[in-house]
Amino acid sequence: MKMQDRGIIITGGASGIGAATVRRTVTEGARVIIADMHQEAGDALARELGSERCRFVQTDVASTDSVTALFREAADFCGVDGVFNNAGIGGQSMAVDYSDEDWQRVVEINLGGVFRVAREAMRHMQGKGGSIVNCASILGHFGQTQTAAYSAAKGGVINLTRTLALEGAGQGIRVTSLSPGYIATPLLDALDKDVLDFLTGLHPVGRLGTADEVANAAVFLLSDEASFITGVDLLVDGGFTAGKS
Ligand SMILES: NC(=O)c1ccc[n+]([C@@H]2O[C@H](COP(=O)([O-])OP(=O)(O)OC[C@H]3O[C@@H](n4cnc5c(N)ncnc54)[C@H](O)[C@@H]3O)[C@@H](O)[C@H]2O)c1
Repeated sequence: MKMQDRGIIITGGASGIGAATVRRTVTEGARVIIADMHQEAGDALARELGSERCRFVQTDVASTDSVTALFREAADFCGVDGVFNNAGIGGQSMAVDYSDEDWQRVVEINLGGVFRVAREAMRHMQGKGGSIVNCASILGHFGQTQTAAYSAAKGGVINLTRTLALEGAGQGIRVTSLSPGYIATPLLDALDKDVLDFLTGLHPVGRLGTADEVANAAVFLLSDEASFITGVDLLVDGGFTAGKS
């Protein structure tokens, strides 16, 4: 098993990509904290996987106090060897229609949340090392109409990752990001079917990705199999960003 008795925190672990990664890391032998706003789904997943291996901690990554409390509980339950910094929200609007509140909410969760959680993780990993995997997006690699705040935040995650990797390298702390293409999760529920069909066609492999396929990449980056990999972004996008065919 790749992650025997490692202590792992997964933000946004109650749904979609996060929940798939919770299942994979538990299967690989880790003890896992599900950190999410969504109490009902988080509790249900933790119950299903068993209190020995998994605990839900209600967390808002937009709040420093909440993140501090999360790490306190994780230190007690399993220690902090790895973090999948995955919590995120969408946000679709033309820039001219974006309110200050919507901009702040998307950036505060998708970029500020990643920073807040990574900062606390690095404090806990000082002197013993660890792995932090930040969830970015293909939209951090290029622009797309109606995604001003989301794509700005995800581009920020990719570059934040590089700086944190440099700051953590001397401590044995690896920091990486991954960039999913469009993945079939509840995050896409807001999109109309014709938009989804259009987006599906943009993936050269001819389909959307699955949460399990992103979880596989996250587990690899969290594990020692990625021991010489830091400061990079791994695209998990079915060829979306490779070019036009
Ligand atoms: N689904 C896609 O197509 C896709 C593509 C690229 C990147 N991503 C990224 O993958 C990550 C996971 O997305 P998903 O598709 O699994 O979505 P999802 O909506 O299924 O899961 C997101 C989870 O994050 C939680 N969350 C939201 N705000 C939070 C907060 N403030 N604090 C703690 N938890 C919070 C939600 O409760 C939810 O459980 C996100 O960062 C998203 O931007 C998704």
